[in-house]
Amino acid sequence: MIKMESKIINGECLGEMNKLPDNCVDLIITSPPYEDISGAGYNGSKKDILFFKLYSDFVDKLFNEYYRVLKNTGQIFFNVKSKTHIKTLSTPHWLEFLESFKQFKFKSYIIWKYAGSFDSTDKRFHLDYEIIYHLSKSDDIYLNENCGIKDALTSVWYIPHNIKDRIHPTQMPEAVVERILKVASKENDVVLDSFLGSGTTSKVCADMNRIYIGIEINPDYYNMAIERIRRAKTQTQLSAESCPTESLIAINQN
Ligand SMILES: C[S@@+](CC[C@H](N)C(=O)[O-])C[C@H]1O[C@@H](n2cnc3c(N)ncnc32)[C@H](O)[C@@H]1O
Repeated sequence: MIKMESKIINGECLGEMNKLPDNCVDLIITSPPYEDISGAGYNGSKKDILFFKLYSDFVDKLFNEYYRVLKNTGQIFFNVKSKTHIKTLSTPHWLEFLESFKQFKFKSYIIWKYAGSFDSTDKRFHLDYEIIYHLSKSDDIYLNENCGIKDALTSVWYIPHNIKDRIHPTQMPEAVVERILKVASKENDVVLDSFLGSGTTSKVCADMNRIYIGIEINPDYYNMAIERIRRAKTQTQLSAESCPTESLIAINQN
């Protein structure tokens, strides 16, 4: 078996995932870009038919690549949200009809609910939630109901967005990643985020002793992610140093 090591890559995810061996990843946690799919070669700001065609072709390739790199016991948590387009709601349900999506077992449809909305209007109900598709390659998956989270296997998660402290426009709260890692992974599992952004997935993996592979196309976000993970690691090292080995042994012996 190939031993995987944690790494953050500045590059385009399809090309970079292509370099990974088959069946090497335990878990994928990711949020694809909602607007700018520079990775798919489309740089226009307007959403037209071409945009949707390019976007769905891109996502199709993405799911095929996820299928290849995931272990048979692997799982995906794929976070997307509805958007408004010409004042009407545009949902991501078309994903479910892609052949590449259908090769997975569609396990759960998680609603991540937060207070407030980025899209408030008095002419429709607020978009105050996002979707997390939970997929797997087989039924042989690890889901730990006794992971310390109350009602760990419920499908509506109330987790606020920390807009105040975020360094990336679509930064995921660490609590979302933490919840997924607690319920669906073990120490030293290999966790891939193909759209790393500011590094949230890999940062929480570093905190929780998971092996992380993060891919981010934008060099500024890549540098942010590297810095965030470096700080997280220093923090872990500092807390270990402030608790000397002797005292750890003493605690174990009691
Ligand atoms: C929704 S954001 C992810 C935010 C991330 N979850 C966080 O907490 O910061 C999507 C990211 O994907 C990056 N991206 C877009 N196309 C990409 C591609 N083809 N390959 C790799 N990264 C890409 C964007 O630059 C953006 O930072």
